[in-house]
Amino acid sequence: MSHPIIEAIEGRRTINLFDPSRSVSDEQIGELVRLATKAPTSFNLQNWRFIAVRSPEQKARLRKVAWDQAKITDAAVTFIVCGQLTDERVLAERLAPVVKAGIMPAPMVAGWEAAAKSLYRDQPWRQRDEAIRTATFAAGTMLFAAHAMGLGTAPMIGFDPEAVSEQFGLGPDEIPVLLLAVGYAAPDNWPQKPRRPLSQVFELV
Ligand SMILES: Cc1cc2nc3c(=O)[nH]c(=O)nc-3n(C[C@H](O)[C@H](O)[C@H](O)COP(=O)(O)O)c2cc1C
Repeated sequence: MSHPIIEAIEGRRTINLFDPSRSVSDEQIGELVRLATKAPTSFNLQNWRFIAVRSPEQKARLRKVAWDQAKITDAAVTFIVCGQLTDERVLAERLAPVVKAGIMPAPMVAGWEAAAKSLYRDQPWRQRDEAIRTATFAAGTMLFAAHAMGLGTAPMIGFDPEAVSEQFGLGPDEIPVLLLAVGYAAPDNWPQKPRRPLSQVFELV
């Protein structure tokens, strides 16, 4: 099947070697974040925040608390993709534009709030799970947005979360879920690696 989205899924690979001489503009960074926020979230919570680390000084700071990975200083920008611990109390604000756009009838909001309350209120593990799902979907969406813009990406979990939180001013309700380095690929990166056979990972019931 030939379709640009399928081609992107087939063609994307993790970039280990970035061209350090090529930068990205404020507009490109803003567009990457805008597209990432098109990702779905539970109840449309949008419990995410993106810190774009681009200046040489800030990149060096991040690299120090991220296993000294050269990608962070070589890539044009590295996003700290944060998930936020939250519950139903943010929903009135998050759903107001949905009601205003005529998508959701106003009386439905209370039902969503009740469902979200039963899921998340005073349930730290569920809040944490949701923060991680949210940020992961965002990073997954950004990775393909970057691919479409001719940029390579490297997701990273090799960092010290406490140090990243402290040095980049994350709030007590924010988790640095992953780093996503974005920039122009240098030559000699590996292609996408083979995946486990479907027979090992797939069940049709
Ligand atoms: C959640 C996550 C964390 C990762 N952390 C790192 C990392 O810290 N450093 C690194 O070099 N690669 C990291 N990777 C990249 C993986 O090694 C890479 O995606 C995997 O080998 C598959 O490569 P491919 O997408 O090119 O086929 C990470 C990938 C993911 C999804």
